[in-house]
Amino acid sequence: MSTILIETRPARPDDAVSLAETHDEAWRTAYQGLIPGPELEKLITRRGPSWWDTAIRRGSRISLLIFGDEIAGYANYGRNRAKSLPYAGEVYELYLKPEYQGLGFGRRLFSNAKRDLAQSGQTSMVVWVLSDNEPAVAFYRALGGRTIARSTERFGQKVLDKLAFAWTR
Ligand SMILES: CC(C)(COP(=O)(O)OP(=O)(O)OC[C@H]1O[C@@H](n2cnc3c(N)ncnc32)[C@H](O)[C@@H]1OP(=O)(O)O)[C@@H](O)C(=O)NCCC(=O)NCCS
Repeated sequence: MSTILIETRPARPDDAVSLAETHDEAWRTAYQGLIPGPELEKLITRRGPSWWDTAIRRGSRISLLIFGDEIAGYANYGRNRAKSLPYAGEVYELYLKPEYQGLGFGRRLFSNAKRDLAQSGQTSMVVWVLSDNEPAVAFYRALGGRTIARSTERFGQKVLDKLAFAWTR
């Protein structure tokens, strides 16, 4: 019988190539048909291995969900970027490869990020989600997020609505 190790751990510089692949696959699946093709290509292309390498070396908080010897998904998080919202922390991104979705790993990555933020004093936090990303909206609702703000984001010619979910502890 073989045992598969499932763990969360901080990203290291030697994860940069696999992280770029994970990002590519997860974003392509999540946003095809939602974000216009050329814009999505741009967003994916600029997040190659060197982008991830730089982010990791600069100390960005990036947590990985490791399944066996593979990166199944990641979350990155830190200080809340929207000064107008009275929340300390923010989960910037949380993405799983399609084959690892629906298994509780999203909840695990989220809880890990929330705990890590709380440990550095950021006991309240937000997440922004495109309103049309229905699975992600359902996920953040299931995790107890409260809708606290709405905004829009432009992708080329297309303007999409987005929602901010918040947690206060
Ligand atoms: C959204 C995402 C992070 C969720 O992670 P996941 O591992 O699939 O979700 P989990 O299995 O941990 O589910 C946690 C809870 O959310 C609920 N949930 C997850 N996806 C759902 C969906 N599509 N519809 C309804 N509920 C959903 C689950 O039922 C579960 O609730 P429960 O614990 O009360 O039963 C993951 O599917 C993903 O990476 N999607 C593509 C990328 C993306 O859209 N990321 C978010 C961008 S902001």
